[in-house]
Amino acid sequence: MSARPLESPRAYRGRLLTPIPASPDGAPVRFIDDALLVVGSDGRIAQAAPFAPGAFRGPVLDLRPAVLMPGFIDAHVHFPQTRIIGSASGPLLDWLERSVFPEEARFRDEAYATRVAGEFTGRLLASGTTTCVVFSSSCAGATDRLFRALSAAGLRGIAGLTLMDQSCPEALRVPHDEAIPAARDLVQRWHGAGGGLLEFAITPRFAPSCSRPLMEAAARLARDHGLLVQTHVAENPAEGEATLRAHPWARDYVDVYDRVGLLTGRALLAHAIHLSPREWDRLAETGSSVVHCPDSNFFLGSGRMRLADARARAVPVGLGSDVGAGRSFDMRRGMSSAFDNALCLGDRLTPADLFVMATQGTADAVGLGRVVGSLDAGKEADFIAVRFPEHVLGEAETLNHLVFASDATVATVQRAFVRGRPVYP
Ligand code: GUN
Ligand code: ZN
Repeated sequence: MSARPLESPRAYRGRLLTPIPASPDGAPVRFIDDALLVVGSDGRIAQAAPFAPGAFRGPVLDLRPAVLMPGFIDAHVHFPQTRIIGSASGPLLDWLERSVFPEEARFRDEAYATRVAGEFTGRLLASGTTTCVVFSSSCAGATDRLFRALSAAGLRGIAGLTLMDQSCPEALRVPHDEAIPAARDLVQRWHGAGGGLLEFAITPRFAPSCSRPLMEAAARLARDHGLLVQTHVAENPAEGEATLRAHPWARDYVDVYDRVGLLTGRALLAHAIHLSPREWDRLAETGSSVVHCPDSNFFLGSGRMRLADARARAVPVGLGSDVGAGRSFDMRRGMSSAFDNALCLGDRLTPADLFVMATQGTADAVGLGRVVGSLDAGKEADFIAVRFPEHVLGEAETLNHLVFASDATVATVQRAFVRGRPVYP
C-alpha cells in the first residue's frame, strides 16, 4: 500500500512548526501561525508557506488549530519489549535476565509475535512516530512478522534480527551459521520493500552476547548490502566489564566493534554513557552515530550521557525511546528526559533544541536527514498534526507544551502521514 503513488496533490492548512536544517540566521525552528503544506503526487513536500487564499487549486484539508510538524523519529526501540514496559527489576544485566530474556523467548510463537507487532505499530503511530529504528528478537519468524506489521501500518522503519550467540538463555541463542543466513534471507525479503520505506539493519545485541565470528560475519553482510548497523555501547559499568571479559583482545568497548569491522560508517550505537575520550574520537573517525536514550538511562540507573562529548566531535546524536527500558513510546517523553539528563550535568537544553534533536537531528543520525526530519520542500511528506489547548499560541508556548506538558490531554496527535499517505488514525 505504501508503494503506490498519491493520486493527486493534496494540501493541508494549520499552524506549522519545523526545524530549519541549514538556518541562515541560526534560528533552529520556524513557526507559521497559519500555513499551507502542499504534498505532491510523488508524496514529497511541494511547499510549506504562510497560507494565502487561492494559492492552491484543489481541496484543502483544514486541520486548524492543530500544529503540523515532522513526524518523530525513534532511533532505538525494542519491538519484543512492548509488553514489559515498566518492569523495574534492576540495573541493566539483572533487568535483561529477569524481565527481557523471558519475554523475548515468547516471540518464537509467531501468533504471539504477530499480536504484539500490531500493538507495537499502533503505539508508535498514536505517539506521532513515523520512522522507527527497531530491534526485533533473535527469532527470524518474529522479525518477518514485525516487517509485515510495519508494512501494513505504512510506517517507515529500519529493523533487524537481534544477533546473540553466547551468554544468553538457550531459547534466544542462535549460532552464527544459522543467524547469518536468516539475516540474509530477511535482507532479500524486506530491505528496500514498501518502495524504500523499509530497511533491514544488522543488529548485534551487544558485545557480551556476540562471539567474534558472529560479529565479523555480520559486519561482512552489512558492508555487502550497505546496511545500517545498530547495537548498544557503554550503557552500564558492569556491562563494560562483561564486554572485556568476553573479548579480552580488545583495548576498550568501542574497540570490539571497531576490530570486527562493525563501525562501517553507518553504525548507530545506543547509550554511549561510559566512553573514554579515545572511544569518542574513534566514533568520530569512523563516521558512527550515537543514540541518546535518556528515559531508559534514568529507569535502569545507567548514568548520564554527556552530549557535549558527542557535539565536540560532531558525532551525530539521535534520540531513542529504548522501550522497554524507556517508559514510553512517546518521543515527547524522550525530549523531556533529555532535558533532565542535561540539567543533571549542569547544562540547559531549550525546547527548540530538543524538538530539533527528535526530528532533523535523529534523521541525520540514522542516515535519513535528506529524506525526512523537517517540512522543507523536496522532503518526503512524513508529518503529524498535533492539537493543543486553545490557550497555547505561538512558537514558544507550543514548544514548551510539546516538550514538557506532553500528556495526551494537553497535546494530542490527531493525524499522521508517511510519504503523504494518511497512516493514523
Ligand atoms: N543491552 C543489551 N540488550 C539491551 C536491551 O534490550 N535494552 C537495553 N537498554 N540495553 C541492552
Ligand atoms: Zn536498547
